[in-house]
Amino acid sequence: MGEVERNPEARSVFLQFRDELTQGKVRAAERTGKDWTVNVWVKQGILLGFRLGELTQMGDGATLSFVDKDTFPSRRFTIEDHVRVVPGGSSVRLGAYVASGVICMPPMFINVGAYVDEGTMVDSHALVGSCAQIGKRVHVSAAAQIGGVLEPVNAAPVIIEDDVLVGGNCGVYEGTLVRSGAVLGAGTILTRSTPLYDLVRHQIYKAGETTPLEVPENAVVVPGSRAVKQGLAADWNLSLYTPVIVKYRDEKTDQRIELEDWLR
Ligand SMILES: CC(C)(COP(=O)(O)OP(=O)(O)OC[C@H]1O[C@@H](n2cnc3c(N)ncnc32)[C@H](O)[C@@H]1OP(=O)(O)O)[C@@H](O)C(=O)NCCC(=O)NCCS
Repeated sequence: MGEVERNPEARSVFLQFRDELTQGKVRAAERTGKDWTVNVWVKQGILLGFRLGELTQMGDGATLSFVDKDTFPSRRFTIEDHVRVVPGGSSVRLGAYVASGVICMPPMFINVGAYVDEGTMVDSHALVGSCAQIGKRVHVSAAAQIGGVLEPVNAAPVIIEDDVLVGGNCGVYEGTLVRSGAVLGAGTILTRSTPLYDLVRHQIYKAGETTPLEVPENAVVVPGSRAVKQGLAADWNLSLYTPVIVKYRDEKTDQRIELEDWLR
């Protein structure tokens, strides 16, 4: 046991920190103007919670049983939270902020430190990873995976700004920043290693040493491929996966991704 675990104050400081995460008062990343600032200490605080936590039996025991660190139990929602959690195997950890009007379709998982803003839908089989920041009215479609900062070790959380559609089966990882209004077509994967080809603005976007891959506002990104011109891969006529911006959002896109208001 280390010094921190022996310190009786550490647990109460952590629990207060976790409450502030749950209430959305503390965030893993914050926006000032166009820029996002990562609060590195938030991830460190979460890691502290894992160090302080002790394994405990959770659940009602009669049907399903769970064993996890006692510092990260599941959140319990009340009607006053105005968050719809449809029955059927979803879990939101304490330390995740979920705003009023969010809909969680089972099964889905929202990890600690995540921030999910008003009117967002987290569809079935979706993951909102640790510390991921999801804006207002975002649709995280079925089976979409939004990576976290804890495993594997990542410094910056994924950020999805307001009014983004993350299509079914997408994967957004390694601190990728998706600007507001963007549409990720079904099956698009974005990481620090995937260059993003913009056919409209004739540009190739890449993550830098300290900057994440950034998807521009209102970009419509679909999964594509590019031929490899050199080496064995060329001899074998291979091509590699690459995301491509085919257009910027227009009325047709809006119609294609319109959601059923009645369901809300
Ligand atoms: C991206 C999407 C919204 C289409 O947007 P759109 O504005 O209607 O796009 P368009 O039909 O104008 O297509 C523009 C170009 O991109 C191509 N394209 C569109 N979607 C594509 C896709 N998913 N994969 C590959 N190419 C695609 C079109 O063929 C077209 O190319 P062309 O002009 O050479 O024919 C749609 O493909 C998509 O992925 N929707 C999300 C579905 C989903 O996951 N729903 C979740 C519900 S749970």
